[in-house]
Amino acid sequence: MAINLRGRNFLTLRDFAKREIEFLLDLSADLKAKKRARLWNPLLKGRNVALLFEKSSTRTRCAFTVAADDEGAHAEFLGKNDIHFGGKEDTKDTARVLGRMFDGIQFRGFKHSTVEELAKYAGVPVWNGLTDDYHPTQILADMLTIRERFGTLAGKKLVFMGDTRNNMGNSLMIGCAKLGLHYVACGHSSLFPREDLVRECNEIIAESGSGGSVSATSDPAEAVRGADVIYTDVWYSMGEEDKAAARKALLSPYQVNMELMKSTGNPGTIFMHCLPAFKGNEVTEDVFESTNSLVFEEAENRLHTIKAVMVATIGDI
Ligand code: CP
Ligand code: NVA
Repeated sequence: MAINLRGRNFLTLRDFAKREIEFLLDLSADLKAKKRARLWNPLLKGRNVALLFEKSSTRTRCAFTVAADDEGAHAEFLGKNDIHFGGKEDTKDTARVLGRMFDGIQFRGFKHSTVEELAKYAGVPVWNGLTDDYHPTQILADMLTIRERFGTLAGKKLVFMGDTRNNMGNSLMIGCAKLGLHYVACGHSSLFPREDLVRECNEIIAESGSGGSVSATSDPAEAVRGADVIYTDVWYSMGEEDKAAARKALLSPYQVNMELMKSTGNPGTIFMHCLPAFKGNEVTEDVFESTNSLVFEEAENRLHTIKAVMVATIGDI
């Protein structure tokens, strides 16, 4: 079914209905197949997109850049020291200037309120490439990767180990609620998901009838039993470097190692990580390099899914 997302912002998955997210996944799969077949029919011809970064990035930056180029658009990287933003020009004015020149704006940075303010004033679609609270484009890539492996999403059990209230934990929980997966957050109770977000996800599940669930536990053995996906992320995110030692002490019992992978009782359990990984902390090298690890498929899918977001919101479809 054709779904019209033209002109929409992409700030969190809570703003999108299940069928809209599924449409983006289907479009990603189509664009991936098209690229593999080297079928060039540019869908973003003549567009200019601004890539605004307050924090570092490998995958997100490269995905937006290559996706834009593949589809005939120009992407302009604007790092935190390149323009007046964050210095003598405020967010509201930066948004209105960029919105007069670009067809879409990607923002990666600290406060989620910054991406919301950009979206409020830009007058063109704004895409969230990660804030302290959410990382929605990553979830599209993750869901595409899970769907490619298992053929379906609804009913799958995804366990997120570690710092379960970080941007990845928040966004995976929303994505699972929307798409009907069983989401289990497993970590120290002081780092459990925000109660308001858990409530919101339960409302999403009840209203949409997605069949998903969300829960939290501090018991790794209980959490991973029967898991289809074990997912982890760094124990301290960008901007939290001062918490490194404290987090290591709190989260060491939640490391994803071979023993934990085996204790699912499911030989088909896959390992996922948004990357970059701190091997030896949240995941061991052997799990990371194992045949059940889909981390590089996941990384590649950032390209196809980010392309779908741009094509759907500003492209010729
Ligand atoms: N997963 C992810 O967003 O990677 P980067 O920080 O390299 O963009
Ligand atoms: N939680 C991590 C994700 C990086 C893609 C961070 O924000 O640093």
